[in-house]
Amino acid sequence: MKHADIGLIGLGTMGAALALNIADNGFDVAVWNRTTQVTHDFANNAGDLSVKVHATDTLADLVKAIAKPRAIILMVPAGSAVDEQIAALRPLLDPDDMIIDAGNANFHDTNRRAAEAGELPFLGIGVSGGEQGARFGPSIMGGGAREHWDRVAPILTAIAAKYNGIPCATWMGPQGAGHFVKAVHNGIEYADMQMIAEAYGMMRDGFGMDSEAIGTAFADWDKGTLKSYLTEISAKVAKAVDPETGLPMLEVIVDAAGQKGTGRWTAIEAQHLAAPIPAIEAAVVARNLSSQRDKRALGESIFGAAPQRVSGISLETLQAALIAGKILCYAQGFEMIGKASDQFGWKLPSPAIAEVWREGCIIRSEMLNDMASALTQDADRNLMFAPFFADLLKTHHGALRQVVAQAALNGIAMPALASGLAYFDAMRTARGTANMIQGQRDFFGAHGFERTDGRKDQHGPWAASA
Ligand code: 6PG
Repeated sequence: MKHADIGLIGLGTMGAALALNIADNGFDVAVWNRTTQVTHDFANNAGDLSVKVHATDTLADLVKAIAKPRAIILMVPAGSAVDEQIAALRPLLDPDDMIIDAGNANFHDTNRRAAEAGELPFLGIGVSGGEQGARFGPSIMGGGAREHWDRVAPILTAIAAKYNGIPCATWMGPQGAGHFVKAVHNGIEYADMQMIAEAYGMMRDGFGMDSEAIGTAFADWDKGTLKSYLTEISAKVAKAVDPETGLPMLEVIVDAAGQKGTGRWTAIEAQHLAAPIPAIEAAVVARNLSSQRDKRALGESIFGAAPQRVSGISLETLQAALIAGKILCYAQGFEMIGKASDQFGWKLPSPAIAEVWREGCIIRSEMLNDMASALTQDADRNLMFAPFFADLLKTHHGALRQVVAQAALNGIAMPALASGLAYFDAMRTARGTANMIQGQRDFFGAHGFERTDGRKDQHGPWAASA
């Protein structure tokens, strides 16, 4: 029997889709799932692709079915399941066989697993695009030793999404670099989704638009600068009708957002890195707050419903505000990548990251191509200062200001867009207000400050004013 080109463990939604994608691209894939019946059902239902799918009943059978040196993809839930699977698999493998964790791992876990693997080949790859992406072309962010990535790159680039023929699969750096970049992707995903939800809130509560009209607005925006997968699906979500009640789907979906935690990891890591990503943090907070339904209802009963009709803001202004917000949120994500690059010594390739996100992943958008160009010209500069995006911000931040101001005046919560605006204003203010904080710190703790004349570790005359 012909040996498989690669193995795959875990035939859940993502694993099954990825295995079919691999087979569809002409590779033989050996598969194994904890429940044998699942493995056989999968192979039997693979249709024309079943000739490329080798179902195996035990881990040992799986290993035997793969050509040497082997490569095995793990598609199991992030966390202890990955460690357990590695522990079960390693004793069956040769020293040059490779384990590839393609789940949504915390990059700290991937760093640890890479250290535990030592010289044994181990990759942690971020895979984005949901089930459709996994089946027909995800965006793949690779992490681990470069030579190990190169060994499996022919398969990973073949199955990846293509942007104008260029595969969206790239090696990001050693250890957990791939999963780190995937975490930032998810942080941006959270902020992008939250900003869209805030624009929806303005249309619904501020403008009094119905879901159909809101869907039409998003669909129009999807033809311009905001063209992206998330704008496109927001239009579809808004226009969808519940078959049971005939109501718009948005009327029957509870306003409490779930989360598996990757956005939270990004926010936590940003604090460790001292990377300012307020829009992403605001989006995580907004999800947490959305779940406090009882408290929100109590608040409304005490203070009265907040959202009021807004006048004087057009749909075009809201669209422009969203463009500005989106640029600021991506600028923050790439700043965080730059910080991690420095602190972890990973040399993360910002332009290549923007390129790998152009297709296949959840945050894919037209704008990412322009971001890739801007970062290619100057990867070290904050994206908001790159000429193309600086020009866009110059023409759009006024709209963001108007929208956030009207939202504040009319009780419409816009945490991500408002924090984007605050970030913009802070980043364009050469003389900020932290001199007051330094004065306070020195007053109560003698922490010292730097004087504007350049003298460091100075103290104020606080005793005189005590
Ligand atoms: C992707 C997504 C995906 C993520 C879901 C759910 O890139 O395909 O980021 O990996 O798991 O979007 O994430 P939450 O449950 O945290 O919203």
